[in-house]
Amino acid sequence: MEKQDVSDMVTNLGDLRYWYQRIEVDGEVTPVFNKEMAETAFYNQGKWEYFIKPLIPFAPEGRIFVECGCNAGLFLLLAAEMGFSTVLGLEGDDGWYQQACFILEYYQGRQPEIYRRVSLALSRIGKAGEGASKSCTIQSSCLARDWSSLPRADLTLLANVLYWIDRESAGRYIAELARSSDYCIVVSVNGSYPLGGPCSREEVCHAFKNDWEEVESVSPPQLEAGERGRDMFSILFRSRVLSSEHDGNSSGQRAGL
Ligand SMILES: C[S@@+](CC[C@H](N)C(=O)[O-])C[C@H]1O[C@@H](n2cnc3c(N)ncnc32)[C@H](O)[C@@H]1O
Repeated sequence: MEKQDVSDMVTNLGDLRYWYQRIEVDGEVTPVFNKEMAETAFYNQGKWEYFIKPLIPFAPEGRIFVECGCNAGLFLLLAAEMGFSTVLGLEGDDGWYQQACFILEYYQGRQPEIYRRVSLALSRIGKAGEGASKSCTIQSSCLARDWSSLPRADLTLLANVLYWIDRESAGRYIAELARSSDYCIVVSVNGSYPLGGPCSREEVCHAFKNDWEEVESVSPPQLEAGERGRDMFSILFRSRVLSSEHDGNSSGQRAGL
């Protein structure tokens, strides 16, 4: 793709849905809608470095990484660069899904050996129009997920997404996920979005307590003078359902998956 075509695509995709993630494309960065937020220490790359990467519980080679609510795909790129063997992004919003398709195609065109491990699916968890707030409501034409076909994962990332999903669907998803993902990293803010799924640390721990055990967590680190953060946290959970299957099955094979 010519430089001008890339730049036109970035503009057109930004008209379709604002750019939430700042991603480098052809020497430029995508023009995020909220520059103030994007310049805080825990946004994008900072979120990955402080809240996600330190909790990844194994070496990535041979492992499957899934992100639900992958937006334009930044963390999928970083997971592939880190060495995960299979990386899958699920995104429920048509506009952001199209941004992710473009970003992925761009990176696959440049370094296929790294980025061909990544794939995407337009896939919405739960019902439409019941997100936490108007700005968070997903207007998507795709069907609600078939819970029985969640992709199998070693690790699922839910970064600032649960509180977008209506509460009942979020609860069902968390329970179903315990049957298809060994580990889950939840990144969230210590706030409350009353119409959506769990948001604060307390709400997240409560929602995961039946089917998951907490392994480790991260609180905001001390920042350098002049840096701005956010009241965020992340938690690594391990599925009780799958760990009991592993314990009862010495061959390490999972029944039904
Ligand atoms: C606040 S953004 C976070 C994006 C990315 N995970 C990050 O941390 O930078 C929330 C993302 O989750 C997606 N999302 C929200 N509800 C969803 C749902 N029910 N199913 C799938 N994706 C959803 C949104 O479209 C959006 O891309």
